[in-house]
Amino acid sequence: MRSVLTPCPVSETVNRRARAGESKRPLDPTADTIVLGDNLEALARLPDGTFSLVYIDPPFNTGRQQTRVSIQTVRDEENGDRIGFGGNRYRTETLGVKAYPDLHDDYLGFLEPVLREARRVLTPDGSLFFHIDFREAHYCKVLLDELFGRDSFMNEIIWAYDYGGRSKRKWPAKHDTIFWYAKNPNQYLFNYDDIDRIPYMAPGLAGPEKAARGKTPTDVWWMTIVSPTGKEKTGYPTQKPLALLKRIVSVHSNPGDCVLDFFAGSGTTGEAAAKLGRTFFLIDNNEDAFEVMRGRLAGFSPLVISLTDRDRRPADSVRW
Ligand SMILES: C[S@@+](CC[C@H](N)C(=O)[O-])C[C@H]1O[C@@H](n2cnc3c(N)ncnc32)[C@H](O)[C@@H]1O
Repeated sequence: MRSVLTPCPVSETVNRRARAGESKRPLDPTADTIVLGDNLEALARLPDGTFSLVYIDPPFNTGRQQTRVSIQTVRDEENGDRIGFGGNRYRTETLGVKAYPDLHDDYLGFLEPVLREARRVLTPDGSLFFHIDFREAHYCKVLLDELFGRDSFMNEIIWAYDYGGRSKRKWPAKHDTIFWYAKNPNQYLFNYDDIDRIPYMAPGLAGPEKAARGKTPTDVWWMTIVSPTGKEKTGYPTQKPLALLKRIVSVHSNPGDCVLDFFAGSGTTGEAAAKLGRTFFLIDNNEDAFEVMRGRLAGFSPLVISLTDRDRRPADSVRW
């Protein structure tokens, strides 16, 4: 699949920085950025406590082989590329690449290291939004409870849509689950006044004033999928609706904050963040996704970075 949109150019600043030298440098989370590469490798180069919002929508049941780079962090005051707790310097070492014939083989093993990193890079009042299929949701909830603590579980949001075929043998499954975890359940962002309002089901019962204003949604969000023929469609198969991401970004971050999506796909989180005045940091290891994001977000002039092998990377991206 190829994007028909014009990819964003690489800025001079980036070219200068790229020419300057060595790889494995820390990544700067404060500029709009698109990264082509494995998310665990990229996350290890991000500083602690920077993102007020992390939204992820990991792949599920793809039937394709998936790979995961395993890394370790070693204290190294001389050559360390990362500053950690107490100002100590650390170096990141790649231990090897693990291949999963299908994600089902060890789905939680695939997710656990990146979820740990997600928690690490959240600000003290930050939140994780984890978007998942109904078949895996329950296993993931147990893992998230372990990593974040049960008290940090805030909501199970059901995104309900009504599109496509309907089984005649069981209830048609027409929802996804989104878990919200707050890093600190006693101090988190929830911009109530920024929630978009929806129509009452029975406006006659609400009265004209309330009916005109609309009501705030519950934890069940009725929203249509991205229309296969509409303007929003990028062509990326698992694209999520912009309205869904705009609701999450506006309520769970403030203008100027940094928003992270490390299973970024077509870059929906980036578009929502940029349109709402937040900075986006997007990571995906799929070159089609990378191309779609570069086209979709070209107007925001993001840094475009490749962590992949020099000869595999797209011509006008920068190796980091
Ligand atoms: C379900 S899609 C995300 C769709 C996205 N929410 C959107 O609106 O377009 C999941 C993405 O995770 C990416 N992915 C899978 N494993 C990855 C890894 N180890 N590192 C980075 N990205 C990965 C896939 O390439 C895919 O684009």
